[in-house]
Amino acid sequence: IEKLLTPQDLAGLDVLVTAGPTREPLDPVRYLSNRSSGKMGYALARVAALRGARVTLVTGPTSLIPPPGVEAIRVETAREMYDAVLQHFEQADLVIKAAAVADYRPQDVSSQKIKKQGQDMQLQLTRNPDVLAELGRRKKDHQLLVGFAAETNDLEQNALAKLTRKNLDLLVANDVTIPGAGFDYDTNVVRIFGRDGEVESLPLMDKNRVAQKILDRVAKLLTTRRG
Ligand code: CTP
Ligand code: CA
Repeated sequence: IEKLLTPQDLAGLDVLVTAGPTREPLDPVRYLSNRSSGKMGYALARVAALRGARVTLVTGPTSLIPPPGVEAIRVETAREMYDAVLQHFEQADLVIKAAAVADYRPQDVSSQKIKKQGQDMQLQLTRNPDVLAELGRRKKDHQLLVGFAAETNDLEQNALAKLTRKNLDLLVANDVTIPGAGFDYDTNVVRIFGRDGEVESLPLMDKNRVAQKILDRVAKLLTTRRG
């Protein structure tokens, strides 16, 4: 019913969304991760499907249920997310990378539980591949790329740097220090930066409404492109 009442302005569009945190194992019982709940990415997948898109959701571990009509692919580590996303990238018209991908993983994964030893412990970490940056390199003219940035300081400067560096069309930046916004909340406060220079600052709103706003910007880009 909800879909019947929603304008199908994304009909025919193939959309790939990533959501949630990644988990980087240290041993069979431990991992490194982050505070992402997956809510923003799941809201984007849900709203895109309601608006008529064909949606694939590559998701890290979350407590959420994939929205109806969305193909969900479950992954755990950044490298698994990288493989799943690249496998689906070519057929996608739009990719939205809402996932909070771990920048580093433990260099060695112990096959047995690590036993405590001594007073201090050092962990050696190594860089994960940057999924979004790789998509930026492979992007074709017809494809749109939307990235996220979680910042605690110098939001505009950091956001604009990521937009250019990763060859994005839109970047959604959120200041994670604002109470009630970002990680683990149902609400978010974001600024949407376009490569065309257009900036939109949104007030505190429900993540479903933020998703609508982001997809409005995408729809606008699609119509200007089609001319
Ligand atoms: N991202 C990614 N792969 C990574 C790290 C980040 O695809 N290994 C994506 C995220 O999904 C997000 C965007 O890059 O859409 C920005 O993530 P963020 O952590 O804010 O930026 P980084 O480029 O990792 O920079 P830093 O953490 O140093 O601020
Ligand atoms: Ca990062």
